[in-house]
Amino acid sequence: MMRQPKIGATQTSPTLPTPAQGVRWTTPIVETPGIVVLASWIWRLLRFLTTLPFRFPVMIACLAASVGAWWWLDWPGLTALWGLAAVASLVWWRAWPDSYRRCVLLRLLAWWRHVFVYRRHWQPVLVISGLAESYQERRYLPRIRRVTCDTWADRVRVALVAGTAPADFETRVAELAHGFAAPSCRVIVNGPRDITLEFPRHDTLAEPLDALPVPDSPDLDALPVGQREDGSPWLLRLHGTHVLVVGVTGAGKGSVIWSAVRAMLPAVKAGTAQVWAIDPKRMELAYGRDLFAHYADTGESAVALLERAVASMQERAERYAGKQRSHVATVDDPFVVVLLDEVAFLTAYHPDRDVRRRAENAIATLTSQGRSVGFAVLAALQDPRKEVMNLRNLFPDKVALRLDEASQVDMVLGEGARERGAEAHLIDPALPGVAYVRLEGSPSPVRVRAAYVSDEDITAMVSAHGGSANHSVGGGEG
Ligand SMILES: Nc1ncnc2c1ncn2[C@@H]1O[C@H](COP(=O)(O)OP(=O)(O)OP(=O)(O)O)[C@@H](O)[C@H]1O
Ligand SMILES: [Mg+2]
Repeated sequence: MMRQPKIGATQTSPTLPTPAQGVRWTTPIVETPGIVVLASWIWRLLRFLTTLPFRFPVMIACLAASVGAWWWLDWPGLTALWGLAAVASLVWWRAWPDSYRRCVLLRLLAWWRHVFVYRRHWQPVLVISGLAESYQERRYLPRIRRVTCDTWADRVRVALVAGTAPADFETRVAELAHGFAAPSCRVIVNGPRDITLEFPRHDTLAEPLDALPVPDSPDLDALPVGQREDGSPWLLRLHGTHVLVVGVTGAGKGSVIWSAVRAMLPAVKAGTAQVWAIDPKRMELAYGRDLFAHYADTGESAVALLERAVASMQERAERYAGKQRSHVATVDDPFVVVLLDEVAFLTAYHPDRDVRRRAENAIATLTSQGRSVGFAVLAALQDPRKEVMNLRNLFPDKVALRLDEASQVDMVLGEGARERGAEAHLIDPALPGVAYVRLEGSPSPVRVRAAYVSDEDITAMVSAHGGSANHSVGGGEG
């Protein structure tokens, strides 16, 4: 039998002992020569001093000018220089407030936030959130490269430590947001070992958004339906996809649906797009009935409408087969949006089993085959669980409004969405229309708010565009 090595004995001879000899091998410690350490420190100091004017050019220039004025003209010179600077600053602020805000105020704010918020709390926040190892090992601490501010958010550019990935930060966004007292945090990947953390300073979506202006020539790939957290428009793609809007009752599903319909109106009027609406609750879509090419509000009529859409889609697919691979919206072959408010009414809650089965089949056929022939389904749903709606994976794009439970976030937006900051279950009930979405090309969810289309807006839409919608679908609809 092999003898166990003795614990605690250290190696004393340069010959490598075998475990059978009962000694423990320890790696020899090689000390860096003092001269090399000194040279490294001198090199770092020189590099710091040389790069200083490039890193803080304005501050260094002001400091140099102040020292120069004091050196040659003493205190009166320094006072005159500062007085001149104050007057110039006042004139700049009054004459060009935007440029003054961007070049002076936001830069001062960025410097302040860099020093007193991010650098000050950086190490403790990263260590406690598990993104850095320990208080001693500064070498393994991700480095802040730069902090910039705009009117709504701070952006902290970070150099990652080798061996870590942006995903490590993406899964700690909640800890980072709390650590730096921000309402949320988003990770933007710039390149290898280079990310930006975006911390909003206040909630830009706190105020409701009025219905957006109707675009002159709508782009069905990018319909303006609201606003993103950074102030840019939230553009919803309908052509070439299917969209599932999920949220508890009162979360604002209606505002997403109506904003999409509103943005399409000129295409509806021109006949290049049609909306087929199913409204089981008779509360959401009935108001704008005249805008729709077809409308159904009972289980049987809804299924008939869906099956009609399927037949029409298949007829179009047959005509396209071997001739055309993608759809271009025309009056003969319009883009068809099947609007389904509370889709679970048809797939789960309807008392008639046959209606449920036929509705599910028709929705599955439309969502799996309709994309390339110009048929899209825009559906609203309260409860995203599989037993209520097992077709949710057939919708490539999803919108997560306020949800009931944390576990529903990943059900709607996909695996890892909650870890990446989509806290749809924490959306304030006082903010209907606020949602999280995933945009093309980025795994990080984005917070958005849909514009609110009021009853008066719908009435105005109907009087301007109503009646024009009742075209038939080209190519042999029954
Ligand atoms: N985008 C929005 N901005 C501001 N307020 C909104 C917005 N969307 C909805 N609301 C307000 O919230 C109320 C409920 O909205 P909505 O009817 O769209 O909810 P819902 O999700 O469709 O609910 P349900 O499932 O019960 O139909 C609206 O009457 C309106 O007052
Ligand atoms: Mg509704």
